Amino acid sequence: MPRDFLKTSDSSAQQLGEVIESAIRFKSGEEKSRALAGHSVALVFFNPSLRTRASMQVGIYELGGNAVVLEPGGTSWTLEHRDGVVMDADKTEHVAEFVRVLGRYCVAIGVRTFAALKDWQAERLDPILNAFAKYSDVPIINLESAMHHPCQAMADMMTIREKLGGGKKKVLMTWAWHPKPLPMAVPNSFALAAAQMGHDVVIAHPQGYELDDELVVDIRRQASGAGGGITISNDIKEAFEGAEVVYAKSWGSRNFYGAPEKDVAERAQYRSKWIVDEEKMARTNSAIFMHCLPVRRNVIVTDGVIDSASSVVIDEAENRLHVQKSILAKLIH
Ligand code: CP
Repeated sequence: MPRDFLKTSDSSAQQLGEVIESAIRFKSGEEKSRALAGHSVALVFFNPSLRTRASMQVGIYELGGNAVVLEPGGTSWTLEHRDGVVMDADKTEHVAEFVRVLGRYCVAIGVRTFAALKDWQAERLDPILNAFAKYSDVPIINLESAMHHPCQAMADMMTIREKLGGGKKKVLMTWAWHPKPLPMAVPNSFALAAAQMGHDVVIAHPQGYELDDELVVDIRRQASGAGGGITISNDIKEAFEGAEVVYAKSWGSRNFYGAPEKDVAERAQYRSKWIVDEEKMARTNSAIFMHCLPVRRNVIVTDGVIDSASSVVIDEAENRLHVQKSILAKLIH
């Protein structure tokens, strides 16, 4: 494993497979590591969370450790991440001191820092996450950044393996209408991890909602190396044909970062069309339904689908706990 867990493509497919194997053992109770006994892990949240925060706190406790939860601008000082700035505005502390001080108390630092959806060219480089990694003396774990949510993606890969067994699956990741633009971290990481696992992945979205060009090149390269394939479709109904996994997520258009009202106007045409419903699920090969949660019912997915036997969203959320214990135990040893 690399020192930091920032995105799944920093690890090989074999290393990701070992994370999943270990997570399965944690879930069954066979693995009882106390890798964090006597240690603390900092969890830094710039943004809200239910699953990530709760599953990390519980996982650290179950590994024998202690979680220190901080919210910059709330329970800790406001943070500057840019190098060389004159800090005469609203930021009180620089990441350079923040992470090195935390490193004297804690054996790892988790950080959640969403895209602000204001400046695509800047945010696609994940500047806050990378400032944490640059200055830290201890491992940094990405708890969802502007571009990646690797812990979610690992829970997703574990869930596919758990529900459908090993081997290549036909996986659809579909954009869905939502009243406002959302970050791209979840779809980026899901598609990347699914490609690394060698699945046949269909990425479906309306025109104008393309993922990052460089990332798509990497996703295709990973898929090719792992024996899978990537298809990009703008036809939501066709995309569901024969799928074994349906993964729904909404995201904002990179064309409208800084102008959310334009994205809202553009996406209005897709309401009630780009939704996961019973009719589209009937086109699949008895697919399981996945979503990272939180999800807006009857917006992203109908009650009929999310409440059906094919929905695995609660198991998927549970698996965050097991994969994160596995990742923590591998990073801290
Ligand atoms: N899926 C996920 O990361 O959930 P939270 O935003 O609640 O942490």
